Amino acid sequence: MSDFPAGPDAGHPAADAGSQARIGSLLRILRPIFRTHWLRLACGFVALVVVDFLQLIIPRFVKSAVDALSAGTATSARLLELSLYVCLVALSVAALRFTWRYLIIGFSRILEKKLRDRLFDHILRMDQPFFEKWTIGDLMAHASNDLATIQMACGMGLVAAVDALVMSSAALGFMLAISVKLTLIALLPMPLLIVCTRILSGRLHHRFNLVQEQFSLITEFARANLVSIRLIKAYTLERFQEGRFQTLGEAYVRINLKVAAIQGLLFPISTLVGNIGMLLLLYYGGALVIEGGITIGSFVAFVSYLYMLIWPMMAVGWVANLAQRGVTSLRRIHRLLSEQPAVDIGPTEPLPQAATTSYVCRGLSFSYQGAVRPALSDVSLAITPGLMGLSGRTGSGKSTLCKLLLRMYPVADGMLFFRGVDVNRLSQADIRRCIAYVGQEPVVFADTIAANIAFGRPEATLAEIEAAARAAAIDGDIRTFSEGYQSVIGERGVKLSGGQRQRLALARALLCDRPLLIIDDALSAIDVETEQQVLQGILSSLGGKSVLLVSHRVNVLRHADRIVLLDQGRIVDQGRHEHLLANPFYRVMAEKQQGHA
Ligand SMILES: Nc1ncnc2c1ncn2[C@@H]1O[C@H](COP(=O)(O)OP(=O)(O)OP(=O)(O)O)[C@@H](O)[C@H]1O
Ligand SMILES: [Mg+2]
Repeated sequence: MSDFPAGPDAGHPAADAGSQARIGSLLRILRPIFRTHWLRLACGFVALVVVDFLQLIIPRFVKSAVDALSAGTATSARLLELSLYVCLVALSVAALRFTWRYLIIGFSRILEKKLRDRLFDHILRMDQPFFEKWTIGDLMAHASNDLATIQMACGMGLVAAVDALVMSSAALGFMLAISVKLTLIALLPMPLLIVCTRILSGRLHHRFNLVQEQFSLITEFARANLVSIRLIKAYTLERFQEGRFQTLGEAYVRINLKVAAIQGLLFPISTLVGNIGMLLLLYYGGALVIEGGITIGSFVAFVSYLYMLIWPMMAVGWVANLAQRGVTSLRRIHRLLSEQPAVDIGPTEPLPQAATTSYVCRGLSFSYQGAVRPALSDVSLAITPGLMGLSGRTGSGKSTLCKLLLRMYPVADGMLFFRGVDVNRLSQADIRRCIAYVGQEPVVFADTIAANIAFGRPEATLAEIEAAARAAAIDGDIRTFSEGYQSVIGERGVKLSGGQRQRLALARALLCDRPLLIIDDALSAIDVETEQQVLQGILSSLGGKSVLLVSHRVNVLRHADRIVLLDQGRIVDQGRHEHLLANPFYRVMAEKQQGHA
C-alpha cells in the first residue's frame, strides 16, 4: 500500500455491495458483552426506574399543597412537611442518578473498550491482501468514530429508551388516574410525532453512513499526509494538499449538514407536538376545573405530568436517531470483523522437526489481485542451507517471491513446500517462526535502539543484542549516539540514516537466529566497505542456516553458493557467479559495477 495520500475520491471498501448484514448477526457482536455485565446493567436500570418513579411522586406533593391552599386548609407545618418530602425525594433522585450514570454509562465504556480490543486483535490477524483493501485511515475511523457511536447508542441511547418508556407509561398512568378524557385530549397530537419520526429516521440512516465514510477518507488523507510530510515538503505540495484536504472537509460538512437538517426537524417536531398537547390541556382542562370536574391541584399535577411526557416524546426522536447511527456503525464494524485472512484458512498439521530447513517452490505462479500479468510464473527452486542470491531487473518479482515464502499472500496447493510439506497444510505462524525477514523498506519503531533490535526476541540480553549489532556492522554507529543502545530513535527512525536503518533491521533479524534468513535488498543503502563487513557477519553466523539474499550488488552475489536470476516473474538463469557471467544481464551489471568500483 502506498503511503502517499490518496485522492479525495479514493474507493471505499465499506461501500462493497452485498454486505448488508441482518440485525440479528449485528447484535451477536454485542451479546457476549451484555451477557457478562448483565448484573451491572440490571442494577443501573433499577436505579433509573426508581429515579423515574421518585420524580413522578413530586407532583403528588405539589398537588396536595395546591389543593390544601385552594381549600384554605393549609398550615405552615403541613407545607413544611410537604417541602421536606420534596427535598428528600430530590436528594434520593440525585444519589440514584449518580448510581445509574456510573453503572450504565460505565458499561457503555467497557463495551467500547471490548469492541476496540476485538477489532484490534482481528486487524492484527489479517494479512497483506486485507491491508491492501482497507486503508489505515479507514481502520482508524472505525476504531474511533464508529465505536464512539456504538458506545453512545448502548449508553445514553439505551438509558433514554428505558427512561422514556418508564416515564411515559407512569406519567400516562397518573394522567389517566386524574382524568381519562383529558389524557386522550392531551395525547391527540401524538400520532403526528410517530409518523414524522418514522419518515425522518429512514433518511437519517443513509446519510449517517455517508458521514462515517467521509470521516474515514479524511482520517486516511490526514494520516497519509503526515506520514509523507517530508515528501510533500520536498515537492512543495503543501498548498495543493491543503486544497484537497479542504475539499474533503467541505464534503464532510455538507453531508453532516444534511444529517443536522433531519435532526433539526426531529427535535422541534417533538416539542411542537408536546406543546400542542399543552395547549389543548389548558383549554379543555381549564374548562374542566371551572366546571368542577377536577380540582386545581389535579390540574397542576396533570400539567406536570404532561411536561414529563414531553421529554419521552422528544426522546423517541433522539433514541431513533442514536439507534440508527448505532446500527450503521455496528454494520461497518461487522463488515470489518467479517473479513477473513486469505492465508491460513484450513486445518493445519504440526510442523515437522528438522535439523536443516528446506523451502521448495514447484512451478510457483502468482498474480496480485487485479493485476493483468502474473508477478511470478512457473518458478521452481529449492532454498537449502547456504547462501542463495536472488537478482533481476526491478519489478521482476523478487520481493513477491520473498513475501510468498513468508506466507503474506495465499498460494495454490502444490506450489510451495516447507520441510517437505505443502505450506497450505501448515500454520502460517509456524512457518514464520522459522524465518527471519528483513524487508526492502526497513521498519523501525519510536523506541530505544536496543528494543528495536530485540523486537523479535524481547528476552534477549544486551550482550546478545550487541553481538547481533556487531554482525550487522551497526555497533560502531550505535556507540556514537549519546546514550548508545538506550538512545531513543524518533518515529520512523528520523535520527538514523537509510543505511543505518537497514543494518538495524538486519541486526534484528540476526538476533532472532532462525533457520531461514530472507534479506530483501536490505543492503542497498550501505557503502561497499560496510557491505563486505555485513556480509562477513552474515556468513559467519550462517551455520546450518539457509539465507536468501536479494541484491543487485555483484560483490555480494559472488559469495553466494547459487544465484537465481528473475525476469518478468520467471527464472531466466541460475548458477554460481562465474557461471552467470555468461548471462548478458548479469555480465552488464557486473561490468558496470566493476567500472564504478
Ligand atoms: N501489492 C501489489 N499489488 C499489485 N501488484 C504488485 C504488488 N506488489 C508488487 N506488484 C507488482 O508485481 C511485480 C513484481 O514486484 P516486486 O516487488 O516483486 O518486484 P522486485 O523484483 O522486488 O522489484 P525491485 O527490485 O524494484 O524491488 C511488479 O510489476 C509490481 O508492480
Ligand atoms: Mg523488491
